Amino acid sequence: MSIDFLEKRGRWKSQTGFIMAAVGSAVGLGNIWRFSYMAHENGGGAFLIPYVIALLTVGIPLLVLEFGIGHERIGSAPLAFAKISEKWEWLGWWAVTFVMFGIALYYCVIIAWCINFVVFSFNLSWGGDPDLFFFKSFLGTTAGPESVGHVRTPILFSLMLVWFVNWFVVYQGVEKGIEQANKLFIPLLFVLMLVLIVWGLTLEGAKTGIMAYLTPDFHKLMTPKVWINAYSQIFFSLSLGFGIMIAYASYLPEKSDITKDALATALADCGFSIMAGFGVFAILGYMAQASQQPIENVVTESIGLAFVVYPKAISLLPGGSVFGILFFLSLTFAGLSSSISILEAFSSALMDKFHFNRKPTVSILCVLGFLGGVIFVTGGGLFWLDIVDHFISHYGLVLVGILECILVGWFFHIAKIRNHINKVSSLRLGSWWEGLIKYFVPLVLTIILLSDLIKEGSHPYGNYSWTAIILIGRDWLLFTLIIAFILSRRPWRTEAHRTKGRSDAP
Ligand code: ALA
Repeated sequence: MSIDFLEKRGRWKSQTGFIMAAVGSAVGLGNIWRFSYMAHENGGGAFLIPYVIALLTVGIPLLVLEFGIGHERIGSAPLAFAKISEKWEWLGWWAVTFVMFGIALYYCVIIAWCINFVVFSFNLSWGGDPDLFFFKSFLGTTAGPESVGHVRTPILFSLMLVWFVNWFVVYQGVEKGIEQANKLFIPLLFVLMLVLIVWGLTLEGAKTGIMAYLTPDFHKLMTPKVWINAYSQIFFSLSLGFGIMIAYASYLPEKSDITKDALATALADCGFSIMAGFGVFAILGYMAQASQQPIENVVTESIGLAFVVYPKAISLLPGGSVFGILFFLSLTFAGLSSSISILEAFSSALMDKFHFNRKPTVSILCVLGFLGGVIFVTGGGLFWLDIVDHFISHYGLVLVGILECILVGWFFHIAKIRNHINKVSSLRLGSWWEGLIKYFVPLVLTIILLSDLIKEGSHPYGNYSWTAIILIGRDWLLFTLIIAFILSRRPWRTEAHRTKGRSDAP
């Protein structure tokens, strides 16, 4: 690859900068409320067992693979896959397309809600009924996805701000934009979280919450759903199948420690989730005590946990406003460092293939991202978000995971990637890693996919109508697949795909 082209692609200034960016992508909205809820729902402390097993058997091996592909092939996901086999370029495009024009669109809307809630925290605007406030006054939720309702102006303004920050950071490039932003966001996020955890643990009732979080219910380990949830959580949380980790690793210099970086990223991400769980459950315990209810009654699922249950707790807490501001600020920072990485993964793919300049590319993508997000800002937005998220995270990401293992494991010399990783890394991979990528990971992910599909067929997800499920969920994925095929058929405007990987170099 020409020196000019490599220069133009950008490069991390330091190893720490890269790790911060990778952790920034991994630690996101999913770590703070999704993990805690999952843990509670799936056997409390016992959930940590499948979770850690999923981390070791799929999370870390796949992260090493994505870092390895990006570093060895030197390219964003479509370029890296095209350099493995031209026929598979579409897979890279598909990952970055449904992530950019699917996940990023609604993900940024959730960050926009967090920004609104930072402001609401100042005077506890949700009043005595946070439930009614969130769903009716704030989101203006309609009866279902079929009735879209009105655009919610306050959310639209925050969404504009989110895309402005994404634009501002990614516009300035890898080193000056993404690396700098993450060096600021990540330490800030960890400090904020630490303050919240310590604060939470000192509250009355915290112990009850922690007990609910950690008391293992070993019976739950017999349920396949618990294992499926653990694997899906690891997958989403480490941003696997997003095309991000491949692009990020492609900006690493020749001398880089792939396995050590993957380990550091994975441990920081999972450590963050487990720690955040302490904070969340301490607050729930406090709330259960203050409202004299059993803890089961105060825990609700996913979005409700952050935007309904937390506001309730904040209202009860002395100094609650400050707690609310810190909490929603941490969610905002966690979300932004992930949305930035999504934008970069798609921009970098366009630049690699079409030789576009960064600045106009990023600017146009941010406008499209903002406009595309408007549907999620309407009264029916919450339902659209729920359906699109379900389809992309359950099927899109998992399919990409399976296919990338098959591509590298079966249609390429996986030993080449392993040898390359071993050449540059301090922790060496044994041949067991090849076995995991070739057989175990695709097998586990296929089981997850099939069991989800079977469940899907027998009962429409979330009790939505089949029409909504098909038109919004399935067709969203199909549409991004068509775009991916079109993009992969376009002729290359750079020579990047003809160049070799690092281990082919003479
Ligand atoms: N990995 C990011 C998250 O957990 C997308 O939210």
